[in-house]
Amino acid sequence: MTAPAREPLTEDEVRSLVDRGSQDRCAIEVIEGGPALVRGAAAVADGDGVEHPACRPVVGVCTCHLSQRAPWCDGTHKVAAARLRSG
Ligand code: FES
Repeated sequence: MTAPAREPLTEDEVRSLVDRGSQDRCAIEVIEGGPALVRGAAAVADGDGVEHPACRPVVGVCTCHLSQRAPWCDGTHKVAAARLRSG
């Protein structure tokens, strides 16, 4: 697997994926090198615009574009970081 040449999603980009009813009241914390923790969202859209219900109070949204479970973080960012470190 090769890391894509895409910049990680910013907080504003993650907010744009949150359902409109939750955008103003949700809290987003982007973890450097990892997911964005989103609190209070009802749903988050994937890259195709399909909304996925947020079934927990806090959900991890993929910012690295590598998750196989988008929009959710599946931990792949850890593998990509390890590969970059090992060369
Ligand atoms: S942030 Fe992309 S898989 Fe975790």
